[in-house]
Order: sequence, then C-alpha cells, then structure tokens
Amino acid sequence: MSVIRSVVKGCGSYLPERIMSNDEIAQMVDTSNEWIVARTGILSRHIAADGELTSDLALAAARAALKDANVDPQDIDLIILATSTPDNTFPATAVTIQAGLGITQGAAFDVNAVCAGFVYAMSVADNFLRAGSHSRALVVGAETYSRILDWSDRNTCVLFGDGAGAVVLEAALSDGTIDDPGIHVMRLRSDGRFRDKLYVDGGVSSTQTAGYLRMQGRDVFRHAIVKTTEVMNEALHQIGLDIDDIDWLVPHQANKRILDATATKLGLAPEKTVMTVDTHANTSSASIPLALDVAIKDGRIKPGHLVLLEAMGGGFTWGAGIVRWS
Ligand code: UT7
Repeated sequence: MSVIRSVVKGCGSYLPERIMSNDEIAQMVDTSNEWIVARTGILSRHIAADGELTSDLALAAARAALKDANVDPQDIDLIILATSTPDNTFPATAVTIQAGLGITQGAAFDVNAVCAGFVYAMSVADNFLRAGSHSRALVVGAETYSRILDWSDRNTCVLFGDGAGAVVLEAALSDGTIDDPGIHVMRLRSDGRFRDKLYVDGGVSSTQTAGYLRMQGRDVFRHAIVKTTEVMNEALHQIGLDIDDIDWLVPHQANKRILDATATKLGLAPEKTVMTVDTHANTSSASIPLALDVAIKDGRIKPGHLVLLEAMGGGFTWGAGIVRWS
C-alpha cells in the first residue's frame, strides 16, 4: 500500500566563528576545565558575535541545507523554525528566514519546545507533508542561548552554546514498507508539572524582560535518561523495530554522561551515538541538526541508514523519531 512519507533531501548547519574555551569561562566564574570536561564532556562552545541574531544563524544553516538538497528556495512551501531564543517576541523568526530566502509563498512559523524543539518541528512538518497540504519543508533549529545565560551562574553558563542546523523534507510517494526512505515515526511528549525544573526567569507577560535560564541540573539529568529511553522504545515498538536495527542515534547534545547512560539503558553500542557536545556544547533545538550534519559530512550516516533522533528539554518536553536516510 503506497503512503506519503517525508523524505530528507538535504542537511546544513552553521556555527558562529567565535569559540569560547572552558578556561575562558573559568575566568568569569568559580569553575575549571577539569570539572566541565569530567561532568559534561564539553571542551568548548561557539558564541554568536554582537549583533549576530538567531535569524542570521538560521539563514546560514537554511542556505546550506537547500544547497545540499539541490532545492530552489522557490520550491519551499513550509518553513518551521524550532527556537526558544527568537529575534523578537513577534513576528516569528521563521518569517525573517522566509524573507531572507526571498520566499513569498507558503507558510512560516516558529515552534518552541526548548531543547526538544527540533524533534517537535520535524513532527509538525511530517504531519503537514503527509496530510498533503504542503510539499516541501525547511525545518530549522537555531539558538543564541548566550543571550539568556547568567554568566555569573556556574551551574548553567558552562553548559550552552549558539548554533543552527536545518533539513529539507519533501513529500514522496513510497511503498509503505520499512525500507522506504523518510520519516517512519515521530513521538512527542510533555509534562508541565516539571516546568520549574528548567525555565527562563523572565518573559513578556511576566517581567517584560528576556530573563535568564535557570535549571535544577540533577533533576533534569535523571529525568532525561528515563524519559528519552522510554519514548525511543515506544517509537521502535510502534514500527516493529528493535534497537539493533538502528544504525545511528543522533541525540540532543546536553551532557556526555547523559548520552553514555542513555545508550547503555537502550542497549545500544556506544560507537553508534553521534556525539558533538564536546565542541558544540548544548545548543538546544539546534543540537540535533548540527550533529546530523557532522555525521553526514564525515560519512558516518549514509543513504539507507536508520537514524534514531531523541531530545528532552524544558517543560518538560521530549520526543523521538526514526528516519531512514536518503
Ligand atoms: O538540554 C536539556 C537540559 N539540560 C541538561 O540536560 C543538563 C542536565 N544536567 C546536567 O548535565 C548535570 O546535572 C550538570 C552538568 C548540570 C551538573 O552535574 P552534576 O554531576 O549533576 O553536578 P551537581 O549538580 O550534583 O553538582 C555537584 C557539585 C555541586 O557542589 P556541591 O554542592 O557538591 O559542593 C555544584 O555546586 O558541583 C558544583 N558545580 C560546579 N563546580 C564547578 C556545579 N556547577 C559547577 C561548575 N564548576 N561549573
């Protein structure tokens, strides 16, 4: 039975030029390179330049993805940007990407599911494409967390970085088998009872300020391993697969210890996890497409491979997806 699937046509990413080392942060707060590496696996992160906005990062990643896909911007009819650091309260930063690409047709909007944003945006795009209302989507994750970090709080400022990644998805008629290229399943979850575990202490309606990121790290750590493993197992089960069928796990990059523990709990060989947290740090909704781009460009992810995506973030929001690469 033929079905419509959202097939990945291309991927691209962008990182700001400036690299900030752990030693540099140790000059601002009471921390050390040794502590950051041992507790998180992070060696460095990229930081956006003054005046460089989330939309600038997003546009650079979007252009790279379109080039990789060999798709003309005029053929895109849906732009979804996952971000929790938009340029402005409104309009959606996605319309700035749209205008930057010279696109005047279709729809563009933002999705905010914090670190799970890219998985959420992929799922939304997949539903639009499979419903037949749109035919080619640009899904972008872009963040400038350096702007919402309290640079005097060692619990949080060592963990995050700036960046952007993007994929181009296209609706394609497929055979309806597990061998089809494209998205096979996306599962989204959230539980607002945990919203004070990871949040920003400001906002338009509450303080009229942007606010700073606050986190109860140990609680987030614990929940991340349990909840993402659960949703990945649900996704595998939904399409009748086993963890051994997966070629690559491309997780949200928050902490090497979380990723190692998650792979162990899943029963996945550690070398099948794509890890970029060492040089990107946690770039929230940009981390998955950034990691995808690294693993595609270095030849690990190849056409035909089954790629498992997962993320958890503030809210809590979390989710997983399984894509056969094309
Ligand atoms: O994207 C999703 C959201 N984020 C995450 O998934 C992050 C989840 N959490 C984590 O990655 C980890 O919990 C952290 C890396 C944030 C912290 O690691 P931990 O092993 O859970 O450390 P901890 O919070 O239990 O703190 C241990 C000690 C504390 O000192 P005391 O109370 O034992 O004296 C902290 O004050 O480490 C201290 N500490 C630091 N020391 C040096 C916390 N941050 C730092 C720091 N440098 N930057």
